[in-house]
Parts: sequence; structure tokens; C-alpha cells
Amino acid sequence: MRILSARDESVAACRAAAGRGTLGFVPTMGSLHDGHLALVTRARAECDSVAASIFVNPLQFGPHEDFDAYPRDEARDAELCDRAGVDLLLLLQRDEMYPPGFATTVTQAGHLTGVLEGAERPGHFDGVLTVVAKLFGIVGPSTAYFGRKDYQQTVVVRRMIADLELPIELVVVDTVRESDGLARSSRNAYLGPELRPAALSLVAALTEVERRFEAGERDAAALAGVLSAIVQEGTGGRLDYAQIVDADLGTPRTAQAGQVAVVAARVGPARLLDNHVLGRPLGPFA
Ligand code: PAJ
Repeated sequence: MRILSARDESVAACRAAAGRGTLGFVPTMGSLHDGHLALVTRARAECDSVAASIFVNPLQFGPHEDFDAYPRDEARDAELCDRAGVDLLLLLQRDEMYPPGFATTVTQAGHLTGVLEGAERPGHFDGVLTVVAKLFGIVGPSTAYFGRKDYQQTVVVRRMIADLELPIELVVVDTVRESDGLARSSRNAYLGPELRPAALSLVAALTEVERRFEAGERDAAALAGVLSAIVQEGTGGRLDYAQIVDADLGTPRTAQAGQVAVVAARVGPARLLDNHVLGRPLGPFA
């Protein structure tokens, strides 16, 4: 694995890899876990070369969010990438990503960035899209790998790829969970054992929603109500949202397989997200 810490050598190495065959790309903010590594494994299986990036992107954090506290461990991350089969690891610094004079950002108007995470975190998706567009420009991948764990992120990135005619295929990889069902997240590092039961209420609620869907419940509001009630109870009322959404993040009246139950809540210092595609198996967990 080559570690690339300068923009120019990153561009040159990625162009050379892309010239030799397909190039898969996994953008991350580091503090890597099995969820990130599942993206790398998928890219490794499908592409001739694999590039990954680690960059904690200041543009996508709000002024009172956890940018400074966000967990960082580049040496460990590099080791994990190497073992998972990354060929090119980009570790770009802030002044290389956003040098003096940097002035162009990506803004996505409309519903997709206005709801759910977009409503809770104004400007967040513009920050994500700006860095993702910039990383796509540096890497020039044929395929980019994103996790379903951040469902809305996959929807807004897909929209940007279509709107800007970017010649990149998007692959969405299923959520990787811990043995008790908690979705893997770098922010789980903020959770002590005393917060575990509250954190697990998200997956418990999604499991119950799937159970009711399988039993024939098709009233989307009723399913969202179940999701909301269990997470409100489990987190002491710190639910941000609980909804059933379709592929355009609309809220259907009638639930159907393939629609997604999405939930976000605060647990201690962490803000946790999770979701589940209706009609797919979920659990049981230990
Ligand atoms: P980060 O939170 O580091 O996540 C990087 C990628 O890993 C995202 O595509 C995310 O959905 C995926 N991922 C995280 N946890 C996962 C899990 N448990 N199972 C499967 N995939 C998982 O998402 C970002 O960084 C940033 O917004 C980024 C796209 C890098 C732009 O800065």
C-alpha cells in the first residue's frame, strides 16, 4: 500500500491506477471499523485497484459539533487499510484540500438535503458533497463505495453524480453491526457501557418495525410511530426523527418492501443514526 499525503502525488498515482483498469474508491473520515472495511473489501473484490481516503472534513461539521473531538488514529487506520487490501491511501491535510483562495462549493437545493439529517444539521450535506466532489476529482474512480448506514448521504451523493454527469458508479454496501446489533460507527467511541442500552434501542426499534411489517402492517405512520415510541422510551426522549421514507426521501402512506425506516437520536454525547430496509432480514442479535 502506498500512503499519499500530497495532492499532486495523489492525483498522479490515482491516474496511473485508473489507466491500468478499474479503480474503486472508499472515502472516509478515519477512525476505521468493520463498517468502513466492508466497503474496502467490496471494492477489492470488484476493482483492479482500490483507493481510500481519510480526511476529517471541517466543512461538514456545524459550529457546535464534534470536529475537534472526532476520533483520529492515522497509524492504526493505515494498518487496517493495508490489511484490507487498499492500494492507495490518501491522507490529505486541510491546507491541501482547502488552500487559500478555495472558493467553490457544491450546494444541493431541494427536498433531499432539506429533510432528516439536512433539517437537523444545516449545511452538512453541502460540506459532504463539496469534499466528495473534490475527492472524486483527485481520485477519478470508476466506482465509489458508500455505506447504507448513512442512507440519506447515499441518496444525495447519487443525486449529485446524476446532476453533474460524473462518470462514476455508486455502490451502496449494507450496514455492518456489532454482535448486539449496534450499527458500527466511529462515534460509538463516545458510548460508555452505561449508554449501551439506550444506544441499542435504535436497533431494537428497527427490529420491531420489521417484525410488524412482516406480520402485515402497511400503515407507514403506524410503523413510524412504533419506531419513535421505542426510541423515545430507550433514550429518555432524545429522538430526533423516526420515519418511513422511499428512495426520494418522501414519506409514503403505504409501506412497501424496499422503503427504509430511518431513525436518529442522541445518546449521551453521541448522535446516532440507523436505518433498515423494509422486507429484509434483521437480527436476531446476541
Ligand atoms: P465516515 O463516517 O467515516 O464513513 C465513511 C463511509 O463508511 C460512509 O460511506 C459510511 O456510510 C460508511 N460506513 C460507516 N459506518 C458503516 C457501517 N456500520 N456499515 C457500513 N458502512 C458504514 O461518511 C463519511 O465518513 C463522510 O461523510 C465522507 C463521505 C467521507 C465525506 O467526508
